[in-house]
Amino acid sequence: MKKIIIAIDGFSSCGKSTMAKDLAREVGYIYIDSGAMYRAVTLYSLRKGYFTEQGIDAEALQRDMPDIHITFKLDPTTQRPQTYLNGENVENDIRGMDVSSHVSPIAALGFVREALVSQQQEMGREKGIVMDGRDIGTAVFPNAELKIFVTASAQIRAQRRYDELKAKGQPASYEDILKNVEERDYIDQHREVSPLRKADDAILLDNSHMSIAEQKIWLLEQFKRVAGA
Ligand code: DC
Repeated sequence: MKKIIIAIDGFSSCGKSTMAKDLAREVGYIYIDSGAMYRAVTLYSLRKGYFTEQGIDAEALQRDMPDIHITFKLDPTTQRPQTYLNGENVENDIRGMDVSSHVSPIAALGFVREALVSQQQEMGREKGIVMDGRDIGTAVFPNAELKIFVTASAQIRAQRRYDELKAKGQPASYEDILKNVEERDYIDQHREVSPLRKADDAILLDNSHMSIAEQKIWLLEQFKRVAGA
């Protein structure tokens, strides 16, 4: 069976990573969460104090970019991918509200995108990869064999993120999350560099009223059709 590249793009909190992770496990592919990479750079910038009253200290961040190393490792117990920033497991830190509310302007910096996109392309060199994000089918892998563009209503996505944070014991308000989801949608779609948009050859999936199980079956069908499994 030929190995392919699977690009999963779409709005924030619409279950892209759950579906991408499941599919990768099912078909024995590597899963890469590109959003985690932007989040890790954001965490780095927050820790370094690069968010100032005047905005982001882009000069300092650009200088540091070559020293920011982001890697992924599977947790041996849960088998879940964990994000490492310069060797430190930052998986929990990058999922909190602090990073969520600062990540959009970081993801809009051209030099950050350039550095992360080239790392992502390197990760997909041998194919057999499922990557999720915003620009995977348009900028990172424009020749990906299978492209999915996922969407769901903002309210449903906010509820999902709220439930997720609550389950982890990280308190948050639904209204704040909804506001954050809507703000990020706007910024993601209107930024100058690589705005979020569906690639012409991507398949649209609205999962507002789909269960995870239904989605999994649908996705596997798409994979089999393209990979010839
Ligand atoms: O998928 P996520 O919510 O973890 O992504 C975090 C942020 O990173 C989000 O605001 C959009 C940005 N992002 C991006 O610009 N390009 C990607 N390929 C992935 C994420």
